[in-house]
Amino acid sequence: MDPVIIAIDGEASTGKSTQAKKIAEKFDYNYRDSGAYYRAITLYLIQNNINSNDNISQSVLNQISIEQVYKDKKLSIYLNGNDVTQKIRGFKVSVNVSNFAKKPEIRDFVYEQLRSSAKSNSLVIDGRDIGTVVFPNATFKFFLLADPKIRAERRHKQINDKSVKLESIEEEIILRDNTDSTRKIAPLKKADDAFEIDVTLLTIEQVFEKILSKIKSQ
Ligand code: CDP
Repeated sequence: MDPVIIAIDGEASTGKSTQAKKIAEKFDYNYRDSGAYYRAITLYLIQNNINSNDNISQSVLNQISIEQVYKDKKLSIYLNGNDVTQKIRGFKVSVNVSNFAKKPEIRDFVYEQLRSSAKSNSLVIDGRDIGTVVFPNATFKFFLLADPKIRAERRHKQINDKSVKLESIEEEIILRDNTDSTRKIAPLKKADDAFEIDVTLLTIEQVFEKILSKIKSQ
């Protein structure tokens, strides 16, 4: 049987990874966070003083090895053998990642990782272009969106750090969505055949129920 691919795309901070993990648990599939690849690459390039205006050579990309391990409902990200799961969520990576994610050489690097993961595994993958570009023939496609204020409030609660202002999170989210949806390559946009869910007024469980009933009805 061919591996099943479930694509969960959508705007920043709409709970894509929470839903993706719940689906992976439910069906005993593996999980990949495509954004975490872009974040880990961004961390590596920032640490090595490489700017998003620079051309990123193949020899630089060859120095980057990223591993995602999903176990016991937890995803761990390793960059060249070091656990960077927390570090890639920091503000510095968040404000820079979309400028690196625009670059074709970086996108090709991530596509290769995702497609090789799917060769022998059924996968749930969250991102921006999974259903449009990376796996246009995915078995199921979902697209999550929500009011930016609500998304910022949820992310603020999740970060649980009083020194980070709610307004700066909202600004960062809006800016990132804007960069992601206006870029030329693989912009953030709903695939024509994706099922759209506005999560603004829904709880995690309500969104999950909608996703499950869509999967079961197909
Ligand atoms: O978790 P959140 O929605 O905030 O973002 P993320 O999934 O960690 O993605 C971080 C950034 O990586 C996005 O804002 C995009 O710039 C980029 N990204 C992308 O270009 N394509 C993807 N498939 C996933 C992420």
